[in-house]
Amino acid sequence: MDKFIITGGSPLRGELPISGSKNAVLPVMAATLLTKGTTVIHNVPDLVDMRTMAHLLRILGAKVQFEDHRLTIDTTTYDFNEVPYELVKTMRASIYVLGPLLAKMGEAKVSLPGGCSFGPRPIDYHLRGLETLGATVELKHGNIHATCSRLKGTEIYLDFPSVGATCNLMMSAVLAEGTTVLYNCAKEPHIINLGEVLQQMGAKIQGVGTDTIKIEGVAELHPCECSIYADYIELGTFLIAGAITKGDLTLTHCDPMQAEAVINKLRRSGYNMELTPSTVRITCPRLPKAVNVTTMPYPGFPTDMQAQFMALMSVTPGTSMIAETVFQSRFNHAMELNRLGANIHVDEGMAVVYGVDKLSGAPVMASDLRASAALVLAGLVAEGETHISRVYHIDRGYESIETKLNAVGASIQRVADSNRY
Ligand code: EPZ
Repeated sequence: MDKFIITGGSPLRGELPISGSKNAVLPVMAATLLTKGTTVIHNVPDLVDMRTMAHLLRILGAKVQFEDHRLTIDTTTYDFNEVPYELVKTMRASIYVLGPLLAKMGEAKVSLPGGCSFGPRPIDYHLRGLETLGATVELKHGNIHATCSRLKGTEIYLDFPSVGATCNLMMSAVLAEGTTVLYNCAKEPHIINLGEVLQQMGAKIQGVGTDTIKIEGVAELHPCECSIYADYIELGTFLIAGAITKGDLTLTHCDPMQAEAVINKLRRSGYNMELTPSTVRITCPRLPKAVNVTTMPYPGFPTDMQAQFMALMSVTPGTSMIAETVFQSRFNHAMELNRLGANIHVDEGMAVVYGVDKLSGAPVMASDLRASAALVLAGLVAEGETHISRVYHIDRGYESIETKLNAVGASIQRVADSNRY
């Protein structure tokens, strides 16, 4: 396993390109199972999770090539519809193939995903939605076994605007007989990206990006050539890298409007944000001040940016209240930040962050993707060296993060973690 050795203290200055979105490319890759033929996907980020999904599609019989940020997926000969636990336990998003396999093949067997480091991650909305579409869903020996010769369009109301359930049910309904209306849907940019790709495949979908999506089932979908949106969570993460180091950073190849909630919070905290349609520049002309954050489904402040923002507030003068309303116990990073000298108290889905003058480098451990990003951001300003173990978490969702940050002045070394304990 690798670890990062980060020497803090240098302001980040220069330009950084934003890669394609992890949370968009994974459902789009799964959607190719709805078609027979070759789909080409551009602006694909080179991430561990993307490679895991490619491996999963190969196990199902598809031919997958990845080169120069372009995926070529040939599903002509795929004929397998079972996903083993070994794969699902490494990536929960494997569940995204459940809907497409059921819709295309009439049967799917996918291992039940477990929890993750920030709590139980149930998939009851996914399964209930499939049953509402007429599927028989059995849970046996840790597997989901779903069958239905042809799904039937209907009305489905999500108790919560779940990203995963919206993706899975959209991909199920596009081949159903009749019309499906999904109410209380997620509206994240990656949902819109998936909806657009399904439309390019011939699906009849209206309302993607609103809380009501109407789908008219069709008999067949065809392959297409499409592109992945820029990753607004990577954008937000690097904006905070510029903020926390009081640097002058310009992010390019992105869509600033998708990160509006984060940009507004940074402005409120005192940072200068200059936007063009595809770039954002952040500078720090004045002493920043602590601001409060409550995470919400899009377009609210993203839960995937909560850990990174906490790292920034831990060294910002004042007191910040951070409420996590999407995943109650998504605060593993707080205790690791406290090891670096932060002063954070967590209780019942709320963190109180008392800003400190400085952090000091120490060995810390990454526990999940965004918690590791928060530790990298803290390491950029902590005095001395910060050693972050288990950086495989960060490689799942950030493309060569150390190469990108070192190119604008960071000092991050990736070394083999040879601890003896
Ligand atoms: C997606 O997870 C993302 N993952 C997560 O990003 C992100 O944090 C999350 O959406 C929220 O935006 C991918 O896109 C691959 P949800 P997902 O279904 O779909 C509850 C990252 O860092 N719920 O929107 O699993 C659930 O427990 C990752 O990139 C049910 O109760 O999230 C949670 O409290 C981490 N039953 C809430 O809904 C269900 O059937 C939102 O979950 C489904 C969800």
